[in-house]
Amino acid sequence: MKDLVSIKDINREQIELILSTAASFKVVLQRDIKKVPALRGKTVVNLFFEPSTRTKTSFELAEKRLSTDVLNFSVPTSSVVKGETLLDTVRTIESYGVDYIVIRHSSSGVPHFISKNTHASVVNAGDGTNEHPTQALLDAFSILDKKETLEGLKIAIVGDVCHSRVAKSNIYLFSNFASEVRLVGPPTLVPEFKGYNVQYFNKIEDGIQGADVVMMLRIQSERMTKGFFPSTLEYASLWGLNSARLKLAKKDAIVMHPGPMNRGVEITSEVADSDQSIILEQVTNGLAVRMAVIYLLGRDNEQ
Ligand code: NCD
Repeated sequence: MKDLVSIKDINREQIELILSTAASFKVVLQRDIKKVPALRGKTVVNLFFEPSTRTKTSFELAEKRLSTDVLNFSVPTSSVVKGETLLDTVRTIESYGVDYIVIRHSSSGVPHFISKNTHASVVNAGDGTNEHPTQALLDAFSILDKKETLEGLKIAIVGDVCHSRVAKSNIYLFSNFASEVRLVGPPTLVPEFKGYNVQYFNKIEDGIQGADVVMMLRIQSERMTKGFFPSTLEYASLWGLNSARLKLAKKDAIVMHPGPMNRGVEITSEVADSDQSIILEQVTNGLAVRMAVIYLLGRDNEQ
Protein backbone atom coordinates (compact mmCIF):
# COMPACT_ATOMS: atom_id res chain seq x y z
CA MET A 1 0.00 0.00 0.00
CA LYS A 2 1.18 3.50 -0.85
CA ASP A 3 -1.10 5.42 1.52
CA LEU A 4 -3.15 5.11 4.68
CA VAL A 5 -6.12 7.35 4.05
CA SER A 6 -9.00 5.25 5.35
CA ILE A 7 -9.46 2.22 7.57
CA LYS A 8 -11.87 1.00 4.90
CA ASP A 9 -8.88 0.55 2.57
CA ILE A 10 -7.25 -2.08 4.78
CA ASN A 11 -8.41 -5.54 5.72
CA ARG A 12 -8.17 -7.54 8.92
CA GLU A 13 -4.87 -9.11 7.93
CA GLN A 14 -3.29 -5.71 7.26
CA ILE A 15 -4.66 -4.34 10.54
CA GLU A 16 -3.14 -7.29 12.39
CA LEU A 17 0.19 -6.77 10.63
CA ILE A 18 0.24 -3.11 11.71
CA LEU A 19 -0.64 -4.07 15.30
CA SER A 20 2.00 -6.80 15.53
CA THR A 21 4.64 -4.50 14.01
CA ALA A 22 3.63 -1.85 16.56
CA ALA A 23 4.17 -4.40 19.34
CA SER A 24 7.79 -4.84 18.15
CA PHE A 25 8.30 -1.08 18.06
CA LYS A 26 6.86 -0.78 21.56
CA VAL A 27 9.69 -3.01 22.74
CA VAL A 28 12.20 -0.73 20.97
CA LEU A 29 10.63 2.29 22.71
CA GLN A 30 11.27 0.72 26.11
CA ARG A 31 14.99 0.45 25.42
CA ASP A 32 17.59 2.93 26.52
CA ILE A 33 18.22 3.94 22.92
CA LYS A 34 14.80 4.33 21.38
CA LYS A 35 15.77 4.92 17.78
CA VAL A 36 16.10 2.53 14.83
CA PRO A 37 17.82 3.29 11.51
CA ALA A 38 14.98 1.73 9.47
CA LEU A 39 14.09 4.78 7.38
CA ARG A 40 17.37 6.70 7.37
CA GLY A 41 17.53 8.99 4.34
CA LYS A 42 13.74 9.19 3.96
CA THR A 43 11.96 12.52 4.35
CA VAL A 44 8.58 13.16 5.94
CA VAL A 45 6.60 16.36 5.92
CA ASN A 46 3.92 16.96 8.52
CA LEU A 47 1.22 19.17 7.06
CA PHE A 48 -1.14 20.17 9.85
CA PHE A 49 -3.86 22.57 8.76
CA GLU A 50 -5.72 22.10 12.07
CA PRO A 51 -4.65 22.35 15.71
CA SER A 52 -3.20 19.21 17.27
CA THR A 53 -1.27 18.25 20.38
CA ARG A 54 -1.16 14.47 20.55
CA THR A 55 -1.31 13.47 16.91
CA LYS A 56 1.31 15.96 15.71
CA THR A 57 3.82 15.23 18.46
CA SER A 58 3.18 11.51 18.09
CA PHE A 59 3.84 11.48 14.34
CA GLU A 60 6.89 13.70 14.70
CA LEU A 61 8.43 11.54 17.38
CA ALA A 62 7.55 8.33 15.49
CA GLU A 63 9.27 9.71 12.37
CA LYS A 64 12.36 10.68 14.38
CA ARG A 65 12.50 7.29 16.08
CA LEU A 66 12.59 5.73 12.60
CA SER A 67 15.49 8.06 11.68
CA THR A 68 13.65 9.98 8.93
CA ASP A 69 14.31 13.66 8.21
CA VAL A 70 11.27 15.57 9.42
CA LEU A 71 9.87 18.79 8.00
CA ASN A 72 7.16 20.48 10.00
CA PHE A 73 4.97 22.69 7.92
CA SER A 74 3.37 25.44 9.91
CA VAL A 75 0.26 26.71 8.15
CA PRO A 76 -0.10 30.11 9.88
CA THR A 77 3.44 31.12 8.82
CA SER A 78 3.28 29.62 5.31
CA SER A 79 2.16 30.95 1.93
CA VAL A 80 -1.22 29.28 2.49
CA VAL A 81 -2.23 32.51 4.22
CA LYS A 82 -1.23 34.38 1.03
CA GLY A 83 -3.79 32.41 -0.95
CA GLU A 84 -1.71 29.52 -2.32
CA THR A 85 -3.85 26.52 -3.28
CA LEU A 86 -3.54 23.21 -1.46
CA LEU A 87 -2.23 21.51 -4.58
CA ASP A 88 0.44 24.18 -5.15
CA THR A 89 1.52 23.84 -1.52
CA VAL A 90 1.79 20.06 -1.91
CA ARG A 91 3.66 20.32 -5.25
CA THR A 92 6.10 22.82 -3.74
CA ILE A 93 6.84 20.50 -0.86
CA GLU A 94 7.03 17.49 -3.15
CA SER A 95 9.79 19.21 -5.14
CA TYR A 96 12.16 18.40 -2.27
CA GLY A 97 11.56 14.72 -2.97
CA VAL A 98 9.64 13.93 0.18
CA ASP A 99 8.74 10.30 0.75
CA TYR A 100 5.78 10.80 3.10
CA ILE A 101 3.15 13.44 3.63
CA VAL A 102 1.29 13.26 6.93
CA ILE A 103 -1.75 15.47 6.67
CA ARG A 104 -4.47 16.82 8.93
CA HIS A 105 -7.12 19.07 7.44
CA SER A 106 -10.50 20.43 8.50
CA SER A 107 -12.06 19.33 5.20
CA SER A 108 -13.05 15.71 4.72
CA GLY A 109 -11.43 14.13 1.66
CA VAL A 110 -8.25 16.23 1.52
CA PRO A 111 -5.83 13.32 2.22
CA HIS A 112 -7.56 11.28 -0.47
CA PHE A 113 -7.24 14.16 -2.94
CA ILE A 114 -3.55 14.62 -2.13
CA SER A 115 -2.84 10.90 -2.40
CA LYS A 116 -4.10 11.02 -5.99
CA ASN A 117 -1.76 13.94 -6.75
CA THR A 118 1.56 12.88 -5.27
CA HIS A 119 4.08 10.09 -5.47
CA ALA A 120 4.72 10.37 -1.74
CA SER A 121 2.98 8.07 0.73
CA VAL A 122 0.09 9.95 2.31
CA VAL A 123 -0.99 9.29 5.88
CA ASN A 124 -4.29 10.74 7.04
CA ALA A 125 -3.84 12.35 10.45
CA GLY A 126 -7.51 13.35 10.61
CA ASP A 127 -9.69 14.86 7.89
CA GLY A 128 -12.72 16.88 8.94
CA THR A 129 -15.47 14.68 10.31
CA ASN A 130 -14.40 11.79 8.10
CA GLU A 131 -11.61 9.58 9.44
CA HIS A 132 -8.60 9.31 11.71
CA PRO A 133 -7.18 5.89 10.83
CA THR A 134 -4.05 5.91 13.02
CA GLN A 135 -6.17 6.82 16.07
CA ALA A 136 -8.40 3.78 15.46
CA LEU A 137 -5.32 1.59 15.09
CA LEU A 138 -3.82 2.87 18.34
CA ASP A 139 -7.17 2.40 20.05
CA ALA A 140 -7.34 -1.22 18.88
CA PHE A 141 -3.73 -1.73 19.99
CA SER A 142 -4.53 -0.23 23.42
CA ILE A 143 -7.61 -2.44 23.86
CA LEU A 144 -5.63 -5.54 22.91
CA ASP A 145 -3.04 -4.56 25.50
CA LYS A 146 -5.75 -5.06 28.15
CA LYS A 147 -8.17 -7.57 26.60
CA GLU A 148 -7.39 -10.84 24.87
CA THR A 149 -9.32 -10.21 21.69
CA LEU A 150 -11.55 -7.69 19.96
CA GLU A 151 -13.84 -10.52 18.94
CA GLY A 152 -17.22 -10.22 20.65
CA LEU A 153 -16.00 -7.40 22.90
CA LYS A 154 -18.73 -4.96 23.98
CA ILE A 155 -17.46 -1.52 23.00
CA ALA A 156 -19.53 1.57 23.84
CA ILE A 157 -18.63 4.72 21.89
CA VAL A 158 -20.26 7.61 23.72
CA GLY A 159 -20.92 11.20 22.68
CA ASP A 160 -20.55 13.25 19.52
CA VAL A 161 -20.27 10.36 17.06
CA CYS A 162 -21.65 12.56 14.29
CA HIS A 163 -18.64 14.90 14.12
CA SER A 164 -16.03 12.42 15.31
CA ARG A 165 -13.55 11.08 12.78
CA VAL A 166 -12.15 8.93 15.60
CA ALA A 167 -15.51 7.20 16.11
CA LYS A 168 -15.91 6.55 12.40
CA SER A 169 -12.49 4.99 11.90
CA ASN A 170 -13.08 2.88 15.01
CA ILE A 171 -16.47 1.66 13.78
CA TYR A 172 -14.88 0.63 10.47
CA LEU A 173 -11.99 -1.08 12.23
CA PHE A 174 -14.11 -3.01 14.75
CA SER A 175 -16.35 -4.27 11.94
CA ASN A 176 -13.42 -6.51 10.92
CA PHE A 177 -13.52 -8.26 14.28
CA ALA A 178 -17.20 -8.84 15.04
CA SER A 179 -16.97 -6.66 18.14
CA GLU A 180 -20.31 -5.56 19.62
CA VAL A 181 -20.24 -1.84 18.89
CA ARG A 182 -22.72 0.37 20.70
CA LEU A 183 -23.17 4.00 19.70
CA VAL A 184 -24.41 6.02 22.61
CA GLY A 185 -25.55 9.64 22.64
CA PRO A 186 -28.36 12.06 21.92
CA PRO A 187 -30.08 11.15 18.63
CA THR A 188 -28.89 14.45 17.09
CA LEU A 189 -25.27 13.37 17.56
CA VAL A 190 -25.53 9.72 16.56
CA PRO A 191 -26.03 9.15 12.82
CA GLU A 192 -27.02 5.86 11.27
CA PHE A 193 -24.21 3.67 9.93
CA LYS A 194 -25.84 1.70 7.14
CA GLY A 195 -24.18 -1.62 6.41
CA TYR A 196 -22.42 -1.72 9.79
CA ASN A 197 -23.47 -3.98 12.60
CA VAL A 198 -23.81 -1.39 15.36
CA GLN A 199 -26.41 -0.84 18.08
CA TYR A 200 -27.85 2.54 19.01
CA PHE A 201 -28.57 3.79 22.53
CA ASN A 202 -30.00 7.10 23.60
CA LYS A 203 -29.46 6.54 27.32
CA ILE A 204 -25.88 6.30 28.52
CA GLU A 205 -26.92 3.93 31.32
CA ASP A 206 -28.28 1.43 28.78
CA GLY A 207 -25.36 1.87 26.41
CA ILE A 208 -22.58 1.18 28.88
CA GLN A 209 -24.38 -1.61 30.77
CA GLY A 210 -22.03 -4.62 30.78
CA ALA A 211 -19.53 -2.94 28.41
CA ASP A 212 -15.88 -4.07 28.24
CA VAL A 213 -14.71 -0.77 26.76
CA VAL A 214 -16.17 2.71 27.23
CA MET A 215 -14.79 5.15 24.68
CA MET A 216 -15.73 8.76 25.38
CA LEU A 217 -15.77 11.47 22.72
CA ARG A 218 -15.40 15.24 22.94
CA ILE A 219 -18.20 17.50 21.79
CA GLN A 220 -16.75 18.95 18.59
CA SER A 221 -18.23 22.43 18.99
CA GLU A 222 -15.88 23.80 16.33
CA ARG A 223 -17.60 21.63 13.71
CA MET A 224 -21.17 22.37 14.78
CA THR A 225 -23.20 24.75 12.69
CA LYS A 226 -26.35 24.53 14.80
CA GLY A 227 -27.45 23.57 18.32
CA PHE A 228 -27.31 19.79 18.68
CA PHE A 229 -28.19 19.82 22.40
CA PRO A 230 -29.59 22.46 24.76
CA SER A 231 -26.53 23.23 26.91
CA THR A 232 -23.15 21.92 28.02
CA LEU A 233 -24.50 21.55 31.54
CA GLU A 234 -27.39 19.42 30.36
CA TYR A 235 -25.08 17.37 28.14
CA ALA A 236 -22.78 16.70 31.10
CA SER A 237 -25.66 15.61 33.33
CA LEU A 238 -27.31 13.36 30.73
CA TRP A 239 -24.32 12.01 28.81
CA GLY A 240 -21.21 12.57 30.89
CA LEU A 241 -19.32 9.57 32.26
CA ASN A 242 -19.06 9.64 36.04
CA SER A 243 -18.09 6.98 38.57
CA ALA A 244 -21.68 5.96 39.29
CA ARG A 245 -22.39 5.34 35.62
CA LEU A 246 -19.09 3.55 35.06
CA LYS A 247 -20.17 0.99 37.68
CA LEU A 248 -22.79 -0.20 35.17
CA ALA A 249 -20.03 -1.39 32.83
CA LYS A 250 -18.09 -4.59 33.52
CA LYS A 251 -15.94 -4.52 36.64
CA ASP A 252 -12.78 -4.67 34.55
CA ALA A 253 -14.03 -2.26 31.88
CA ILE A 254 -11.49 0.19 30.48
CA VAL A 255 -12.17 3.87 29.81
CA MET A 256 -10.71 5.49 26.71
CA HIS A 257 -10.66 8.98 25.23
CA PRO A 258 -8.73 10.13 22.14
CA GLY A 259 -8.15 13.55 23.74
CA PRO A 260 -8.35 16.43 24.10
CA MET A 261 -10.74 15.89 27.00
CA ASN A 262 -13.21 18.43 28.25
CA ARG A 263 -13.16 17.50 31.92
CA GLY A 264 -16.52 17.99 33.56
CA VAL A 265 -18.34 17.74 30.22
CA GLU A 266 -18.09 14.25 28.67
CA ILE A 267 -16.01 12.81 31.51
CA THR A 268 -15.43 13.63 35.18
CA SER A 269 -11.87 14.01 36.46
CA GLU A 270 -12.53 11.17 38.87
CA VAL A 271 -13.09 8.77 35.97
CA ALA A 272 -10.42 10.25 33.69
CA ASP A 273 -7.77 9.82 36.39
CA SER A 274 -9.05 6.48 37.70
CA ASP A 275 -7.33 3.09 37.46
CA GLN A 276 -9.79 2.07 34.76
CA SER A 277 -8.70 4.92 32.51
CA ILE A 278 -6.09 4.06 29.85
CA ILE A 279 -6.13 7.52 28.29
CA LEU A 280 -2.40 8.19 28.71
CA GLU A 281 -1.51 4.67 27.63
CA GLN A 282 -3.34 5.42 24.39
CA VAL A 283 -0.91 8.29 23.85
CA THR A 284 2.10 6.07 24.57
CA ASN A 285 0.82 3.35 22.25
CA GLY A 286 0.13 5.88 19.51
CA LEU A 287 3.86 6.35 19.03
CA ALA A 288 4.53 2.66 18.36
CA VAL A 289 1.49 2.37 16.10
CA ARG A 290 2.51 5.37 13.99
CA MET A 291 6.04 4.02 13.70
CA ALA A 292 4.52 0.78 12.40
CA VAL A 293 2.31 2.54 9.85
CA ILE A 294 5.13 4.67 8.43
CA TYR A 295 7.57 1.77 8.44
CA LEU A 296 5.18 -0.57 6.64
CA LEU A 297 4.16 2.00 4.01
CA GLY A 298 7.84 2.69 3.37
CA ARG A 299 8.56 -1.00 2.97
CA ASP A 300 5.66 -1.44 0.56
CA ASN A 301 6.85 1.48 -1.56
CA GLU A 302 10.28 -0.10 -1.97
CA GLN A 303 8.89 -3.32 -3.43
C1 NCD B 1 -9.19 13.86 17.99
C2 NCD B 1 -9.16 14.52 16.65
O1 NCD B 1 -8.45 15.50 16.42
O2 NCD B 1 -9.86 13.99 15.81
N1 NCD B 1 -8.06 13.93 18.75
C3 NCD B 1 -6.94 13.23 18.40
O3 NCD B 1 -6.47 13.24 17.29
N2 NCD B 1 -6.34 12.48 19.35
C4 NCD B 1 -10.46 14.06 18.72
C5 NCD B 1 -10.93 15.45 19.07
O4 NCD B 1 -10.46 16.45 18.55
O5 NCD B 1 -11.84 15.52 19.88
